[in-house]
Amino acid sequence: MANSLSAAQVDDLQQRATAAAQHAYAPYSNFRVGAAVLLDDGSIVTGCNVENASYRLTVCAEQSAIAAALNLHGPKIVIRAIAVANLNDTASQPCGACRQTIHEFSTPDTVVYFPGEKGAIAQATIADLLPAAFLLTNS
Ligand code: THU
Repeated sequence: MANSLSAAQVDDLQQRATAAAQHAYAPYSNFRVGAAVLLDDGSIVTGCNVENASYRLTVCAEQSAIAAALNLHGPKIVIRAIAVANLNDTASQPCGACRQTIHEFSTPDTVVYFPGEKGAIAQATIADLLPAAFLLTNS
């Protein structure tokens, strides 16, 4: 894969995602998620899920990390890779809404790392995870 990271880089990104998950506010689901975004300039920014008593207001870890990245680096960020981790030792893919959010700031070969089966780290490009992203074409 053209955009693949070294094993050490993936490990580092995954560890940062796990550390970010420690900050999660998830009293309703108890599913604590962290995400670490690697930008094309080498910067890494993290985020965690933030739940709400009005459940639908919940912000996922991926969206939280991307919002933080824009706050720190502005609206022109390009995501090279993003790692997602949870503290629940369970396989978990990014939800559909997060795929659309990641897509907004990605290239087709942006790599997404997420918890796979039996503790393995799974990976896929954003193009594979979201082959038919919504695009606003009327502007
Ligand atoms: N969650 C994420 O943070 N990222 C995902 O991709 C899927 C789900 C969070 C939202 C909610 O706080 C909890 O996991 C359970 O759905």
